[in-house]
Amino acid sequence: MSIYVLGISAFYHDSSAALVKDGEIIAAAQEERFTRKKFDPRFPHNAVNYCLEEAFIEVCEIDAIVYYDNPVLTLDRVIKSIISTAPKSIEQWEKAAGSILGVKVFIEDNIRNVLKTDAPILFTKHHRAHAASAFYPSPFKDAAFLTIDGVGEWETTTIGTGSDRGIKTFKTIHYPHSLGLLYSAFTYYTGFKVNSGEYKLMGLAPYGEPKYVNIIKTNLIDIKPDGSFQLNMDYFGFLETNYMTNEKFNTLFRSKPRDPEERITKKDVDIAASIQKVTEEVVLKLAKHTKETTMANNLVMAGGVALNCVANGVLLKEGLFDDIWIQPAAGDAGGALGAALLITHEYFHVSRKMNIKGRDTQKGSFLGPKFSKSEIVSYLHKESYPYHVFKNNKEQNQFIARSIAEGKVVGYFNGRMEFGPRALGARSIIGDPRSSKTQTIMNLKIKYRESFRPFAPSVIYDKCSEYFDLHKESPYMLLVTQVNKYRQCNFKLSKGKDEEMDLIEIVRQKRSDIPAITHVDFSARIQSVHPDDNNEYYGLIKEFEQQTGYGVIVNTSFNVRGEPIVCSPQDAYNCFMNTEMDILVLEECVLYKSEQPKYSQSNLKELLENDSAVIEKKIMRPSVNKELLDSFYDNKLIKIAKIMKKKKLVFFELRPNQNVESYFIASNNNELKIMELSIDGIVSHLKAMWCKEGLNELTGLLDPLFILANKIRQKDHSEDVSPFIYAMF
Ligand SMILES: [Fe+2]
Repeated sequence: MSIYVLGISAFYHDSSAALVKDGEIIAAAQEERFTRKKFDPRFPHNAVNYCLEEAFIEVCEIDAIVYYDNPVLTLDRVIKSIISTAPKSIEQWEKAAGSILGVKVFIEDNIRNVLKTDAPILFTKHHRAHAASAFYPSPFKDAAFLTIDGVGEWETTTIGTGSDRGIKTFKTIHYPHSLGLLYSAFTYYTGFKVNSGEYKLMGLAPYGEPKYVNIIKTNLIDIKPDGSFQLNMDYFGFLETNYMTNEKFNTLFRSKPRDPEERITKKDVDIAASIQKVTEEVVLKLAKHTKETTMANNLVMAGGVALNCVANGVLLKEGLFDDIWIQPAAGDAGGALGAALLITHEYFHVSRKMNIKGRDTQKGSFLGPKFSKSEIVSYLHKESYPYHVFKNNKEQNQFIARSIAEGKVVGYFNGRMEFGPRALGARSIIGDPRSSKTQTIMNLKIKYRESFRPFAPSVIYDKCSEYFDLHKESPYMLLVTQVNKYRQCNFKLSKGKDEEMDLIEIVRQKRSDIPAITHVDFSARIQSVHPDDNNEYYGLIKEFEQQTGYGVIVNTSFNVRGEPIVCSPQDAYNCFMNTEMDILVLEECVLYKSEQPKYSQSNLKELLENDSAVIEKKIMRPSVNKELLDSFYDNKLIKIAKIMKKKKLVFFELRPNQNVESYFIASNNNELKIMELSIDGIVSHLKAMWCKEGLNELTGLLDPLFILANKIRQKDHSEDVSPFIYAMF
């Protein structure tokens, strides 16, 4: 009998589901791809359905369902932070209560109701799920792990090891001290959306000079030699308000946060360069400490900060470890996968199966839906969209390669959709890296996004070192390194005054013989393509090499700004027709733009507006339970805060209870037992924790708290994720 474990990540940011069978990853997908709502945080109905379909099983065949976060610990953090910052935290209480009390405390009930299942519903700790997602699919028998993100329950950074004895955590850093939140604070301050604009900030950094490093290190973060750190909370707003930074932060940098509609200045790019430098320093120190404490040969990483591929590149170059593997879905979507793997190996004791070729078991991250030729043909026939089919794959590749070489931009839809934020050749837009016009055309006419953002190269794995200073594979586009010196052109980044920063002008200058994928500091974010992961895509780049002498192409995700990456042929067709792409490849069917019927661009404007500055200016939806929440805050939370203050109890000096395990508690005979997380379970765990910590005043809060929870329980769970603050409740 096989063991099926379904992992679920939901209600924070970027929901997803993943299915693991006897330790093999069968399917994983983000909900946004199906609902077409970017970073959809709702319950992943569609992703779960897809996972079951992929495995040909019914819900009743699942052995366990696991949620990637522990609501007991999250509620513990939320209550303590609200009380410790009262009476200033009213705004945050209004926001947090809806999410934590209205949704997350009912999570077991919600999952059971939606999936109609009797299977055990388990919970992992957030960072254990990240660590498992990094270790179990990796090609290493043993490895050290390093997880860094905004926050998960209390933890923001963890260090430990993975082996056949499981995931063991040695060291943790706790909220509010968080490298992810520090980066998000600067994302907000430089005018980008928190939770998604971090990538833009990283892309902006190479334009600037790290002039503010000292200011950041003197005032905002105290970095210890072992990489541990403390934030100076005087400068941040996220503890008590719904904004990442505060007035004191503005005074420090001598201006208000950039309005998203304002032009990016030299100061903005210098700030980006500075926070990037600081991040790299912390990551490097943490990795050094990880090496010293574990003596492991290999390192695996996950958590949102592991998507900072520039920092990863710096780490790789340092050569601390023999090898590094990073989970491609390093953010919270990957938590579903990690949680499912953790339960499979540590709860069901399924032994880990390694790849016999020494590669990873992530399957190139092609873990999403695939559409057959007959499905695509019937869709095209139904819609009367003209298409062509070539005699064989070779001829099709010859045509696509020739078209790219002629300067055409191609939408490439092939095989199973990627899991994680990057397109890796299954849902990609591809072009010629040799042309300096490609970056501007693709940014402005295809992606409709900021011109400063560079594109990534897909390079055949065996030619990687011909183009880049990289001598290992980088299959998931998670490493940034330099374009080889002899390919670089004489290029100087202008270092003018604030007002003189013209990013478009800089982007137009040629920087190497593959300018479209060379950033202004000669770096590139590399995807190496191996035939074992994606034979078709490898064959296509090989064909491009045959025709042009270059075994590298431009690869960007198949979507426009504001839209999730396409999932179905219909999504791909819509995106194709909404942009100035020339050719669309849907598996074996090839469509030319010039032959397609007239198309209404009705939804493009809406998509772009959804992602543009307009949304940043929207006032967040007021809570429907405002009165109820405010009266609870005034009558209960403030009163407790006053008592605590009298007793001189500082919450953030108290450590959260380390003994609360993730999904099980050890009974006397050392057998593992499922941890109940129904409402009664949550209440009894909190009571036990708070009594142990001497916080008896808090236990009196529990009954009224859960009466309130029942009153504000949410039916649709469709809360907006604010662009101003990290999704931490
Ligand atoms: Fe996380």
